[in-house]
Amino acid sequence: MLTDKPPLLDVSRLNVFYANLQVLWDVSFFVNEGEIVTLLGANGAGKTTLVQSIFGLLRERRGTVRFRGEEISQLPAYDVVKKGLALVPEKRELFPKMTVRENLELGSFAKVGGEADFERVLSLFPVLEERKGQQAGTLSGGEQQMLAIARALMANPSLIVLDEPSLGLSPLFVTTVLDTMKKLNKDGLSILLVEQNVQHALEISDRGYILENGRVIREAPAAELLCDDQVRAAYLGL
Ligand SMILES: Nc1ncnc2c1ncn2[C@@H]1O[C@H](COP(=O)(O)OP(=O)(O)OP(=O)(O)O)[C@@H](O)[C@H]1O
Ligand SMILES: [Mg+2]
Repeated sequence: MLTDKPPLLDVSRLNVFYANLQVLWDVSFFVNEGEIVTLLGANGAGKTTLVQSIFGLLRERRGTVRFRGEEISQLPAYDVVKKGLALVPEKRELFPKMTVRENLELGSFAKVGGEADFERVLSLFPVLEERKGQQAGTLSGGEQQMLAIARALMANPSLIVLDEPSLGLSPLFVTTVLDTMKKLNKDGLSILLVEQNVQHALEISDRGYILENGRVIREAPAAELLCDDQVRAAYLGL
């Protein structure tokens, strides 16, 4: 279908440096409204660098990031979140001494629009509902990942970016997390999943990109990547 609508997120020719070391090279990719897109890449490919650049957390860079057609490259993270992008960071970055409820309240700090919907977010993660008053640092790894996702949802995003949400989780938790993502997508949330070897991520995705040594080397429908022998051997551990 032809449409004049710009992609929801449009990253164009992004080059990122740590001092003199260039880590991303002319990286371009997009996420359309309503899509789930997976970005696949091995350790050190530059995935986290890319995610942090989108959120204005790294300043040494060239290129543009647009959201709904508007350039957001110069905005600080707080304002990026206010535009409707939310990040579930690689290391979760919860406040361990604060309760589940307090962590969620912090997630609504830069929210889009009116009231944050605490009950709606909790209803997606029954295990958190039961643990509202518990310190975040005492949750299991899987529960902490759920809380990190729930906290991001408190900002009412239209696009959520998850940096390796399945890292360190049991297969059961991976399935729970990705099934929840699929459900949220059906309700209208667009999703960028960053992963290194999760077949299940591609299974729920519309398209995928492969990042290798800081460059996008391939873009294809997720179904095509899933049945590609080379991709399966290099990135899905199959
Ligand atoms: N603060 C930093 N200073 C210097 N180099 C860095 C810094 N952070 C990352 N790098 C380098 O940039 C490259 C990309 O790192 P990045 O963390 O973006 O990769 P990644 O794809 O997220 O890897 P992983 O799957 O292990 O999380 C690596 O070579 C890394 O050593
Ligand atoms: Mg990373």
